[in-house]
Amino acid sequence: MNKYNEIIKAYKNGYAIPQFNTINAEYTRYILEECEKEKSPVILGVSEKVAKHLGGFKVAKNIVDGLIEDLNITIPVILHLDHAKSKEACEKAIKAGFDSIMIDYSSYTLEENIKITKSLVLENPNTIIECEVGTIGKNGNEGIIYSNLEDIEKIKRETNAHLIAPSFGTVHGVYKGEPRLNFNLLKEIKNKIDTPLVMHGGSGLSDENFKESISNGIAKININTELKQAWTKSIREFLKNNPTETDPVYITESVSEELKKVVSKLIKIFGSNNRI
Ligand code: 13P
Repeated sequence: MNKYNEIIKAYKNGYAIPQFNTINAEYTRYILEECEKEKSPVILGVSEKVAKHLGGFKVAKNIVDGLIEDLNITIPVILHLDHAKSKEACEKAIKAGFDSIMIDYSSYTLEENIKITKSLVLENPNTIIECEVGTIGKNGNEGIIYSNLEDIEKIKRETNAHLIAPSFGTVHGVYKGEPRLNFNLLKEIKNKIDTPLVMHGGSGLSDENFKESISNGIAKININTELKQAWTKSIREFLKNNPTETDPVYITESVSEELKKVVSKLIKIFGSNNRI
């Protein structure tokens, strides 16, 4: 599995590959252009919600393939289904040509989580499979259930999943107050399972938090909120400054600079630039 090797390479060499969640063709284009400029491999995260918004998984796949071809993108690009809630969604994405899927059964029992993850690994030998253990919080420091080390060890042993997302204090969305990341837990997980780990809820963390996470086994970092904030800020400002503009081409193109700034900044913190 060539594309998994990119993540292994990051894991072994102390950097992380960014997963930038995308929502449409322009968004994807700006991410790809900036990653190409910085010579960084990239994971494009697509949620079930976004796939539905676009019209289907195949549409997402075709947008990415079309951009790679027309823009002469040469960096490794991994198309990933983020937080799938069912096996059916994973299978549809894999059938459409996604390289990687995350099955999110973190709210089910460990046994159920193991069962579905294991079946996806066994039935899809050419797909990267990620699972989550524990509960990553949402908006603020609420709802976090830190992963249990034994659970992580067990799911790895029984499923051989390629990527594991532990809950170690990150949250999806906006942090309220100081994030409280448990690096000791991360270190213990790394020592026990020696598998690339995934950070969910990357938006809003400090450079130090990223670097310490990477040195403790994080090899994939998911970013969604920060891109969405850059997108909405640009559109709002553009419309404020150009209240009579009605051409969606100019309106949506106005996000390019801000989106690229976020991508460029994070790539350098994660150390994934100049890796091609
Ligand atoms: P943020 O929205 O906090 O960046 O988290 C993204 C994420 O983890 C997607 O899976």
